[in-house]
Amino acid sequence: MTFVYVVALVGALGGILFGFDTGAISGAILYLKQDFSLTSTLQELVTSVALAGAALGAIIGGPLADRYGRRLLIMTTAAVFILGSFAAATAESVSWLIASRIFIGIAIGIASFAAPLYLSEIAPAKIRGALVSLNQVAVTVGILCSYLVDYAFAHEGGWRWMFGLGAVPAFALGIGIFLMPDSPRWLMMKGRREEARRDLQRIRGAGAAIDAELDEISANLSRQHPGYSTLLRPEFRLPLIVGITLAALQQVTGINTVIYYAPTIFQFAGLGSAEAAIFATLGVGIVNVLLTLVALWLIDRVGRRPLLLVGEAGMVVSLIFLGLGFFWHGQGGVTGWITAASLMAYVGFFAIGLGPVFWLIIAEIYPQQVRGLAMSVATLANWGTNLLVALTFLTLVDALGESLTFWVYAALAGCAFVFTFFMVPETKGRTLEEIEAHWHSGGRPHELKDKPT
Ligand code: BGC
Repeated sequence: MTFVYVVALVGALGGILFGFDTGAISGAILYLKQDFSLTSTLQELVTSVALAGAALGAIIGGPLADRYGRRLLIMTTAAVFILGSFAAATAESVSWLIASRIFIGIAIGIASFAAPLYLSEIAPAKIRGALVSLNQVAVTVGILCSYLVDYAFAHEGGWRWMFGLGAVPAFALGIGIFLMPDSPRWLMMKGRREEARRDLQRIRGAGAAIDAELDEISANLSRQHPGYSTLLRPEFRLPLIVGITLAALQQVTGINTVIYYAPTIFQFAGLGSAEAAIFATLGVGIVNVLLTLVALWLIDRVGRRPLLLVGEAGMVVSLIFLGLGFFWHGQGGVTGWITAASLMAYVGFFAIGLGPVFWLIIAEIYPQQVRGLAMSVATLANWGTNLLVALTFLTLVDALGESLTFWVYAALAGCAFVFTFFMVPETKGRTLEEIEAHWHSGGRPHELKDKPT
């Protein structure tokens, strides 16, 4: 049983790539701006081109995950990320930099769904929530590390280090996953039962009821017509809608405005010097990691829906206060603190709900035959809306002011609450095969209830 934790830890390293790059660019851009005399349009391009690359990676990765397997895909992604990091770290021109950012983006887009996909398929149902959410812990640790690296190299303007160091976790991921077994569910899908048996035995350990598990997987597969058209079949339409909508809601409620622009927001709020703002940003990174760990601990105990609902309700309230903090700006020092506290609370509520639970839900609700492709579609929606928010945040602030902008995010977080209440299934304690059977029987999302563990 303990080997499954090793496999999960290695798989979760995929999240570090994604988190590290998300945070690294926010520090690096300040120095790139000087070294390459970037206009603000070029700065936006260098930042957001990786998000566009990630959207592209998400969509090309789906079919590759199904054809070549989750493990091989993750290994290749690690190699692409290493190359991209070296290319970015040694860039001599803006076009070189932009090309390497696209390359890095593609790797991130693939890793962002391939890691949770692999984790969900190797995990026993009872602890699947925690094992898949290790990926989100890695994302938040990656973001925190990048803030620290940005901080450490800030004085020398060492943007080359900021990019280059991303190769370290990618290297660990590549070697680690090479040594790990394949996803037994993917092997079964390919009709390779003997290999699936061997790998599952390795993951579950001696004495586990391997054959029963393999039979459950194969019973499900035989009911399927292979092929991606399955995605559009009426019984799978609902899970597809749930995944895509949650993907968009995870982004349009504004999390990355905070992750990318936290120091700027703290400064808008009148929180003194640039140093104080960067320090407060480290606080955001720490809150993000700690609350994700709390979610990890709770997710197989209380279930996915309660975490989502509490997290979203908390996001609504903290965003309202964040808007109020800006609204009252200039009426005394206390409002700066209200703003800072609501920002931290907002990140904490995201970390307890939408952060980890979105990636978990999309790794759980799709049928085996199309899981890779369906996850990649939801991931495309996630990176696409991430890009949209990144490109519109500063414009929204100019047009509406900070308060209204955050109230718009609050309203969208309210929509996320309502959507979750009516449309998100509870998958706690269920095997992936039971979840799939629920769709086959024509069940509605909210009719899927948890199974006591
Ligand atoms: C989101 C990212 C975000 C991160 C913050 C992830 O779940 O998909 O867009 O930057 O959480 O922790």
